[in-house]
Amino acid sequence: MSASRGGFSSRFGFIMAAAGSAVGLGNIWGFPTQTASNGGAAFVLVYLVLAFCLAYPAFMAELLIGRYGQANAVTSMQKMSRNLWQKRFAFIVGFSGIICAALILSFYGILAGWMMSYAIEPVTTTLGFNEASSWLTSQSIARNLIFSALFMMLTISIIRRGVEDGIEKWSKRLMPMLIGLLILLIIYVFTLDGSREGFAAYLNPDISRVFEPDLLINALGSAFFSLSLGTSVMVIYGSYISKKENLVTLGAQVTLIDVSIAFLAGLLIIPSMYVAQAQGVAIFSDDGSLISGPNLVFEVLPTLFDGMGGIGLFVGFGFFVLMSIAALTSSISMLEGPVSFIVERHNIERKKATTFVGLGIFIISTLIILNFDVLFGFVISLSTVYGQPLIAMLCCIFVGWIWQRSDVLAEIKQGNDNVEHGLFWKIWPWYTKFICPSAIAIVFFHSL
Ligand code: PFF
Repeated sequence: MSASRGGFSSRFGFIMAAAGSAVGLGNIWGFPTQTASNGGAAFVLVYLVLAFCLAYPAFMAELLIGRYGQANAVTSMQKMSRNLWQKRFAFIVGFSGIICAALILSFYGILAGWMMSYAIEPVTTTLGFNEASSWLTSQSIARNLIFSALFMMLTISIIRRGVEDGIEKWSKRLMPMLIGLLILLIIYVFTLDGSREGFAAYLNPDISRVFEPDLLINALGSAFFSLSLGTSVMVIYGSYISKKENLVTLGAQVTLIDVSIAFLAGLLIIPSMYVAQAQGVAIFSDDGSLISGPNLVFEVLPTLFDGMGGIGLFVGFGFFVLMSIAALTSSISMLEGPVSFIVERHNIERKKATTFVGLGIFIISTLIILNFDVLFGFVISLSTVYGQPLIAMLCCIFVGWIWQRSDVLAEIKQGNDNVEHGLFWKIWPWYTKFICPSAIAIVFFHSL
C-alpha cells in the first residue's frame, strides 16, 4: 500500500470491498430474473461454469494489472507497455474501461434510486401518507431525478473519504448487513406456502436447455457484469492491495462470495414468486414464461409483501433496503474508477475530483431520465452487452500478449511463494492468453 494514494488496510477489507463491488443489483435482481426467464436451474448451472472458467481468469487478469501498476487503469497498463503503440493501446483499453464504469453508474444510479424509493414506501404507508406512497412507487421524472440524485450523493460522500475511510470502512459495514438480511429473508420465505415449488423450479435443471445460445450469452453477460469486469474497477481495487497478499486466493474468495450471493438471491426471489402465485398473483406472462425484468421486482414482489399483512411492510422494507445496500457497495467502485484516474493523472484533489465526476455522471443520468425510452436501454446495451465483454477481452489480450511473461509470473508470485507448485501457475498464463480471449470473442460475436 502506498502512503500517498491509500490502500486497503486488511485482507478482510479488500474482500468486502471487492465483493461489495461484485455483489449488486446484478446478483440480487439480474441473476434471479435471468434465471426465471432462462429455464431455471439450467441457467444457474451454466452461470456457475462460466463464472469460474471464464470470468474468474479475466478477473485475475484485471487484479494483477492493478497490483503490478499500483495506479489507475490507464497508468497501470501503460507501465506494462514497451513501445509507443502498446502505450496507445493501453490508453484505449484503460480509458474505455473508465468510461464504461461511468456509463454503468449513470443507469445504475437510476435503478438504485427506484430501490430507495421502494424502501421508503413501507414507512410512508405505516404513517398513513398514502399519497406519498403512491408517488414513491409510480414512475415519474421528478421521483427518478430526486432519488438518483440522493443515491449519487451517498456514493459521492463515501468516495470523497478515500479508500480506507470510505470504500473499505463502508463495505465492511454494509456487506455483513446485506448477507444477514438476505439470509433472514430466505428463512422467512421458506416458511410460506408455495415456496417448496419455487425451490424445486430453481434447483432442478432442464439439461436440454444448457446449450441454448441465448442462455449461454445471457449467462456470460451476467457473470461479467457481476464480477464488474471490463470497467477498470478491479484494476483499481487490485492496485490498493498489499504486495504481501496472495492474490490468487483472494480473487477466488471474492468470486466464490459473488457467485454464492447470486445463488442465495435466487433462493429468495424464485420461491417468493411461487409464494406470490399461491396467493393469487400472476407470475407467468401470456406466453407461459415466468415474469421477469422490472415487473418481477416492482410488481410481483410488492404484491406478495402486501398480501402478508402487517409483517409484509417489514419484509418489503428489508428487501428494498437490501437492494439499496447492494447497489451502493457497487456504485462506489464504479465512481472510484474515473475518480482515481483524474486524481492521479491530473493531480486534482480527491474531494474535488469526486464531486466533479459524480456531478458529470449525474448529468448523464438526468439525460437518460428525460429521454428514458430512447436512452435507458441503449446505455445499458452499450456498456454491458458490448463494452464490458470487449474491454475484458482486451485486458486478457494485454496480459497474455503484451505484458512480459517474466513480469506476470513475478507478480503472481508476490505474497504467494509456493504458487509454482499449484494449478493456477500451470494453467492461468496460457489460458488467459488463448482460451479467454477466444471464448469471449466467440460468445460475443455470436450474440451479434
Ligand atoms: N457487479 C455489479 C452487480 O452485479 O450489480 C455491477 C457492477 C459494479 C458493474 C461495478 C460494473 C462495475 F464496474
